[in-house]
Amino acid sequence: MGETVTLTAWLTDKSGKGKIQFLKLRDGSGFVQATVFKNDVTEEVFEAARRLSQEQAVRVTGEVRADERAPGGVELAVRDLSPYAENAGEYPITPKEHGIEFLLDHRHVWLRHRRPWAILRVRDCVQRAVTDFFHQEGFVRFDAPFFTPNAAEGTTELFEIDLFGEDKAYLSQTGQLHAEAGALAFGKVYTFGPTFRAEKSKTRRHLLEFWMIEPEVAPATHTDNMALQERFVSFLVRRALEECQTELEVLGRDLEKLRPAASGNYPRVTYTGALEIIRKHIEEGDLPPNVQADVQPVEWGDDLGAPHETILGYHFDRPVIVEKYPAAIKAFYMQPDPEDPQLALCDDMIAPEGYGEIIGGSERIHDYELLRARIEHEGLPLSAFEWYLDLRRFGSVPHAGFGMGLERAVAWITGIDHIREAIPFPRMLTRMVP
Ligand code: 4AD
Ligand code: MG
Repeated sequence: MGETVTLTAWLTDKSGKGKIQFLKLRDGSGFVQATVFKNDVTEEVFEAARRLSQEQAVRVTGEVRADERAPGGVELAVRDLSPYAENAGEYPITPKEHGIEFLLDHRHVWLRHRRPWAILRVRDCVQRAVTDFFHQEGFVRFDAPFFTPNAAEGTTELFEIDLFGEDKAYLSQTGQLHAEAGALAFGKVYTFGPTFRAEKSKTRRHLLEFWMIEPEVAPATHTDNMALQERFVSFLVRRALEECQTELEVLGRDLEKLRPAASGNYPRVTYTGALEIIRKHIEEGDLPPNVQADVQPVEWGDDLGAPHETILGYHFDRPVIVEKYPAAIKAFYMQPDPEDPQLALCDDMIAPEGYGEIIGGSERIHDYELLRARIEHEGLPLSAFEWYLDLRRFGSVPHAGFGMGLERAVAWITGIDHIREAIPFPRMLTRMVP
C-alpha cells in the first residue's frame, strides 16, 4: 500500500463528473478502479482521462490505496496517464446485455471481459494441475499424432483428410491407441492435446475440437483405472478451489456443490444399477429442473442419454463412476468382463449438477486373437491396425486408461452452462469464426 506503480491498462468503463473521474481498468492479470482527481493531476491528464473510450489502452501511474468500497479492496490514485492510441471506432461490446451469438461473433474481444477472464484462468489452473498430477504420479507426457490412420471411437464422427489423393488419414478422435504404444514403452504415460469429433449434434456438451487428457498405464486393471480417475479429478478440484477463489467468485460458483468432489470417495455403480436409479427417479417424478417430465427409462442395452446422465448426476453430491456397460455399445478395444462377457470392463465418470460424462475409460483387450476378432467384427480395415496388433503380439499385458475432456471438466468446475465458453475459440457445427 502507498507505493506508486506504472502499468499498461485498458479502460473497461468509466464514470464521474466535475472534479473526479472513476476509471475501471484491467491490466490482463486483474481489474482495478482508478480515480483521477482534478486537483492531483495536470489539466492535460484530467482531460485525457475524461476523453478515454472503452477498451482504449493507457499507460497509467498512480498510488495504490486501500479502499474497502473498491472491488478487490484497493484502488489506484492516478498521478499521470497517457493513452497509447485513439480507438478507430466504437468498441462493439458495451456494458449493456448482449446475446450469446453476438458475443461469440466478437469472441476475439469478448475475451477481455470479466467472465471469460475468470473461466479461462480456471482452465489454465486445471491444465497446470493436470501436468502436476501426472508428474507427481510418475507419468511421462507422451504426445500422440493429430493425423491418424485409425478410427477408434466410431467411424461416423471422423474428420477425413485427403492425403494428396492417395491414402486417407483422419484427424485424431483420441490419442489412446498411440498412448497404448507409449504405455508399453514407458509404463505410465498421458497425452494432452486437441481431439476432433465430427459431431453433428448441437448440444451444450459437444465441440468439434476439444482438448483431451488420456493417461494409459501398463500393467493396470479396470479397478486401478477407476482409482486413478478418482485421485485425478479430486486433485483438479482441490487445486481449483485453492487457487481460483477470485475467479470462482466472479462466476458466482456455488462452492458448496463443488466441494464434495475435492475429497474423493466417489460412489461407484454398475450400468445395470444406474438404470435402476434412473428408473426410480422417473417413476417417482423426482427429476432435476432441466429434465423433461416425459423422459423414458433406459432399456437394458441402450446407452444413457443426456437427461439420464443428468438424473444420475443429481442423485449424488459428487462425481459417480458408472462401470461395466454392455460391450455392444462401447468401443471395440475394451476388455470383456470375465464374469459376464457381454459387459465391458469400462467406466464413465458422470459429474454432478447435470454436467454429464466427463471421463470415459476402460481396460484394453490384451489378447491378440480376441482383439483381432473385434477389429474384424467392427468392420474396420485390419491393415490400418497391424501396428496396434503388434502391441499384443509382443509383450502384451493387461493395461488400462481413460480420457477426460478438458472443457467438460472446466465447464463443471466453473459452473457455466455450455462448454463453448470453456475454450478460447470454440469450434462447433455453427461456428468457425473468429
Ligand atoms: O468417452 P470418449 O469418447 O473416450 C475416448 O475417446 C477414449 N479413447 C478415452 C480413453 O480411454 N483414452 O471421450 C472421452 C471424453 C468424454 O468423457 C468427454 O469428456 C470428452 O472426452 N468428449 C468431448 N468433449 C467435448 N466435445 C466432444 N465432442 C467430446 N467427445 C468426448
Ligand atoms: Mg464416452
